[in-house]
Amino acid sequence: MTGTAYGVRMRVLVTGGAGYIGSHTVVQLVAAGHGVVVVDSFANSKPTVMARLAALTGMDIPVHAFDLTDIDKTERLFAEEPFDAVIHFAGLKAVGESVEKPLEYYENNLGSTFSLVRAMRRHGVRFLVFSSSATVYGDAQEAATEDQATSATNPYGWTKVMQEQVLRDVARADPTMRVALLRYFNPVGAHPSGTIGEDPQGIPNNLVPFIAQVAVGRREALQVFGDDYPTPDGTGRRDYIHVEDLAAGHLAALTRLASTDAPVSTWNLGTGRPTSVLQMLHAFSRACGRELPYVVTARRAGDIATSYADPSRANAELGWYAERTVDDMCADTWRWQSANPTGYPDA
Ligand code: UD1
Repeated sequence: MTGTAYGVRMRVLVTGGAGYIGSHTVVQLVAAGHGVVVVDSFANSKPTVMARLAALTGMDIPVHAFDLTDIDKTERLFAEEPFDAVIHFAGLKAVGESVEKPLEYYENNLGSTFSLVRAMRRHGVRFLVFSSSATVYGDAQEAATEDQATSATNPYGWTKVMQEQVLRDVARADPTMRVALLRYFNPVGAHPSGTIGEDPQGIPNNLVPFIAQVAVGRREALQVFGDDYPTPDGTGRRDYIHVEDLAAGHLAALTRLASTDAPVSTWNLGTGRPTSVLQMLHAFSRACGRELPYVVTARRAGDIATSYADPSRANAELGWYAERTVDDMCADTWRWQSANPTGYPDA
């Protein structure tokens, strides 16, 4: 780790660095002068992402293709490379699938964190930024503050609650550790170049990727899951955050870890402003230049009316703010989706 006039420069291992949020964070880490190594199983991402990252950063990012639940491979990587910090994105993240395959979720998400943290401790790596989620607020997500009790409504959510607890306990036992738990609200958008973005496999579960596929002609119409919620237009409201703002939050957290005395810090990353399904659909229609069709259907099981962050702790402690608007999110998603109608190429 070296200090410069602009802050600290670190050698950072980015797990899940080929994924949606990971890839955007890699670009910003390189731009800030950090050294980056990626590990990704490519279970839910394509190796061709790495070529896009090379084009954007002007650098071939070293990449290790394996699953972190492999304790031996994880240990070998840490024995070979002197990392200062880890940003841990890797994990399974589909809510519905987690209900069908709970064991897979617990084994993968907890197992990868165990082997990663073991290797970090063995090799004296103290800084860890962890991808958590607003899902840890369970059913109580309106103006959520970090001090609220955590809970979950599905196995995916429980893996996040449990990983947070594991990391808190590890940091309590070893107070030299510096851990950031970042609770993301709803990440959307893409890099402004349109060359990297979200590439869901199969039918998208989340709102904005689905709308983007309607816009590009891959799906007929958006299904609006319920218009009888206690919200101004009856549709569910969420705190959508541009992935570029989210990536910037990771860099701010990493820098903060290098100067804080607190073993564990928890920060919400959101805008603090809710947007409804219909507001998002209309914003996307403006971005792509045509009215997008929708039908109102039944509520989706497990959905809540409104979820948004109180981001004031991250604002105050990190000096970080989500700056991009819903229109920016739609314009950038549309640039990515229209240039890559079927996502990343296979090879
Ligand atoms: C979902 C997950 C959450 C996860 C997050 C990741 C559920 C219940 N929750 O959150 O645990 O952390 O994704 O980003 O899956 N909607 C439609 N039509 C669609 C898709 C969504 O109307 O085709 C509505 C939903 O009812 C909701 C809003 O759009 O009101 C956002 O949905 P989504 O993008 O799936 O995010 P969350 O439900 O907030």
